[in-house]
Amino acid sequence: PTITFIEHNGTRHEVRAEVGQSAMQAATFAGVPGIPGDCGGACACASCHAYVDEAWVERFAPAEGTEYDMLENVVERQPTSRLTCQLVVGADMDGLTLRLPAAQF
Ligand code: FES
Repeated sequence: PTITFIEHNGTRHEVRAEVGQSAMQAATFAGVPGIPGDCGGACACASCHAYVDEAWVERFAPAEGTEYDMLENVVERQPTSRLTCQLVVGADMDGLTLRLPAAQF
């Protein structure tokens, strides 16, 4: 599936993702700026924060546990905030759109 990442400045990145990959892995592999993914997906850095497009929010189980706690620390948290290393790409997620915050951390 193809995932679209939209930077805060409006720059769009269409990224080819593998099923079973996390959205963070797809972004870092493709070199999308603004998603360092510093901890490698261990839910320990929050540098993969993004906003799930409204149309896709209900496709993912709500953030809970460690992810929920880590989201307490991000700048500009919104109801649609997620850590993209915890979003697993499914075969039916072509067109998934994630928006990046103005700043990470
Ligand atoms: Fe570190 Fe997602 S990559 S929390």
